Amino acid sequence: MIDFIPVNEPILNGNEKKYLYECIETGWISSEGPFVKIFEDEFAKVAGRKHGIAVCNGTAAIDLAVTALDIKKGDEVILPTFTIISCINQIVRVGAIPVLVDSDPITWNMNVSQIEQRITSRTKAILVVHVYGLPVDMDPVLELARAHGIKVIEDAAEMHGQSYKGRPCGSFGDISTFSFYPNKLVTTGEGGMIVTNDDLIADRCRSLRNLCFQSSRRFVHEELGWNMRMTNLQASLGIAQIERLEEFIKIKRRIGRRYHDLLSNTPEIQIPLKKTDYAENIYWVYGLMLKDKVPLDAQEVMDKLSDLKIGTRPFFWCMHEQPVLKKMGLFRGERYPVAEKMARRGFNLPSGLGICDDQILRVAESVHKVLSEVA
Ligand SMILES: Cc1ncc(COP(=O)(O)O)c(C=O)c1O
Repeated sequence: MIDFIPVNEPILNGNEKKYLYECIETGWISSEGPFVKIFEDEFAKVAGRKHGIAVCNGTAAIDLAVTALDIKKGDEVILPTFTIISCINQIVRVGAIPVLVDSDPITWNMNVSQIEQRITSRTKAILVVHVYGLPVDMDPVLELARAHGIKVIEDAAEMHGQSYKGRPCGSFGDISTFSFYPNKLVTTGEGGMIVTNDDLIADRCRSLRNLCFQSSRRFVHEELGWNMRMTNLQASLGIAQIERLEEFIKIKRRIGRRYHDLLSNTPEIQIPLKKTDYAENIYWVYGLMLKDKVPLDAQEVMDKLSDLKIGTRPFFWCMHEQPVLKKMGLFRGERYPVAEKMARRGFNLPSGLGICDDQILRVAESVHKVLSEVA
């Protein structure tokens, strides 16, 4: 019997148990425990920012970022169509208008050359999403934002420890956000973080995540917020995880290099770029794109890999093709061919921090086997 290789397995064998135990011993399990502030400060350092505001997940972090920037009905926000729904939820909920750009076929990130033509007098923000391991080319985005007086939200959910031209991801947005879901380089089970240098934005995010409990009389509220707090239990895991971030980055890059060596001579697939002139791939995940010569789509190849006990995940599904958003009348007739193809032809191989070399070899051999049978 061969074992199933899961798409992700975190590593939790540092100080996680010790710090969690401390929460239980001391009784500090809620968001008021001391680990939350320590985690916020330590994580803000990783991202090169003044403030860290811990929240319950990465989606909540983006919701708060959109709210804290006062994005309202009728405002336009430019974002990639190829991303997770978390990026668009709050934009749509407040009645703002999401304006999409296509992807770059080589880096798989948003095509920054399409941003300028999408800017109008109503554009309030650009929401940048770094996808799968390489950062977005930030300089042109920041230049446009400056020139037009537009805010930048940077979704760095997948980019812990990654950098762009030597500056940490998460240091570029007016507000930047992270996720700590277990497939991330730093996990707290569920969790997220907002980072910023702006004192007012930081205060506003702290208030919004805590039901806007900010008047002199508790239980009297000037504004509606959410309970998006992170618990001391989650933060304790986060502290143990960032202690090992450098090591985790090395492991991810080793996994990426190993896959690269095993798969780079496979003519049926496009593999991730090792580097660009502004960054080295951190290989948050290891994705593949099936070339046109492969007569199957990603789901069919993933099913065949599953028969060989290899776990996979499909690529994102485009925002302009989301049934929920189309039902709202959004994106009528819009087409983004690069992203549409990525959504149909791309998928991720197992690449969690816990994967070992033998497993990587078995995954690569399975990919070769499936492709040789169908091509
Ligand atoms: C780019 C991106 N943004 C946001 C999120 C949402 O984070 P969470 O799952 O913590 O809500 C994810 C999650 O995987 C993501 O990949």
